[in-house]
Amino acid sequence: MATKVVDKTARLTIGRKSVDLPLVCGTEGEQAIDIGKLRASTGLVTIDPSLGNTASCFSKITYIDGEKGILRYRGIPIEKLVAKARFIDVAYLLIHGELPTYDERRNFSQLLNFNSLMHEDMRHFFDLFPRNAHPMNILSTMINAMASFYPNVDLVSVVEDIDSAATRIISCIRTMVAFVYKKSIGEPLVYPRQDLSYCANFLNMMFNSPVRPYEICPETVRLLNILFILHADHEQNCSTTAVRVIGSAQVNLYSTISAGISALSGPLHGGANQAVIEMLRAIHEDGDIEKFVRMAKSKDNNFRLMGFGHRAYKTYDPRAVIIRRECEKYLAFRKIDDPLLDVAKRLEEIALGDSYFIERHLYPNVDFYSGILYRAMGIPENMFTAMFALARLPGWIAHWKEMIGRDTKIVRPRQVYVGKPENKSEIKLPKAIFTI
Ligand code: ACO
Repeated sequence: MATKVVDKTARLTIGRKSVDLPLVCGTEGEQAIDIGKLRASTGLVTIDPSLGNTASCFSKITYIDGEKGILRYRGIPIEKLVAKARFIDVAYLLIHGELPTYDERRNFSQLLNFNSLMHEDMRHFFDLFPRNAHPMNILSTMINAMASFYPNVDLVSVVEDIDSAATRIISCIRTMVAFVYKKSIGEPLVYPRQDLSYCANFLNMMFNSPVRPYEICPETVRLLNILFILHADHEQNCSTTAVRVIGSAQVNLYSTISAGISALSGPLHGGANQAVIEMLRAIHEDGDIEKFVRMAKSKDNNFRLMGFGHRAYKTYDPRAVIIRRECEKYLAFRKIDDPLLDVAKRLEEIALGDSYFIERHLYPNVDFYSGILYRAMGIPENMFTAMFALARLPGWIAHWKEMIGRDTKIVRPRQVYVGKPENKSEIKLPKAIFTI
């Protein structure tokens, strides 16, 4: 990928030796020291556990300014996208770099429709999971299994026909998520309909039943589009980095996405949306908000305010701004009086006025209010992270597409070994239990 090299270098002095390292510059002026040749010229590596200070790649997909609370996909602010676009437009934008034309959108929609059925033989797998299996575990397994069911998963075919691969993943996984839910409540699978938009189709597959027809509410569809758009990409987060790392070994796209889903399931990442609701309910039942704030601040306690804090944002997460606004609107529209919304707002107010959170720049993130919205839409709590995964698929695919190619190098960091020095004595083992 072309990079802009700045007319400046950073000089690193180690003892008597100095080395000039080139600076590279991003579109918005952010600069980085290129250390690619550091080891060759000095024998040194850099160390940055959890990569908080490392740009792991050049990317043209998403821009974040964590200090100003800015998030843009392919240059377009998310505020503009949620106001006008649908999730499918944004998926296309992330994968292709431009919003679709009328024909491109029609073609993409048709492919989503053609690819919406999961292979019938895959349905048997679902029978074998325990009833209470977490949807994220089921999903990561099923997506990995897709590589065995669909031909042409080799990299060249997928890259040459990215729309087919992308729509199969985006559409088929939507069917799987709805199926996981239907299975968990013992209802028959609802098949996708070709006359419905992506989000309306999903709601119908989730909630329609032969004995209780589901009336699709345009406001719920609008809101689901917004939630999916806001979750569609977030540059080099944990799961996207997992996708790039696994993908760099030229693993097939399905297994690569499966790794992303596994990473997303953790409570410090996408799993936080479920953890937030569990926390809000615990606070509501207990009634003492201040106690939970004290626990979050205490060094003797592992408890954290879930849905608070972010590696990239040092101000209010711009996604949380929109979700909070939509949350209040939607609950009013549906005449839902959810006490957990009051708890969340009060908790936010206390935390934002507390020096612990102020000094550490801890603000609500995308997960803080999203669960309240999903609850209001009827989505069960253990499915919240699966909703996040559905929405993040275009982002993962876009990053995979950007990374894969002839020049892709396998990701293989180094380490600083701090284990035992060489053991020069004879090794001693206990007497063997088995003779063969
Ligand atoms: N509650 C209380 N204290 C917190 C919180 C929190 N939610 N988040 C960070 N802190 C404190 C830490 O204890 C630490 O304090 P210290 O400097 O006194 O040791 C300081 O703030 C910095 O925290 P780090 O863990 O170093 O920040 P990091 O950037 O590594 O972590 C993370 C970011 C994982 C999101 C963290 O803020 C967190 O655990 N939040 C709660 C879980 C959550 O909401 N995750 C979803 C993130 S969004 C997403 O992934 C989709």
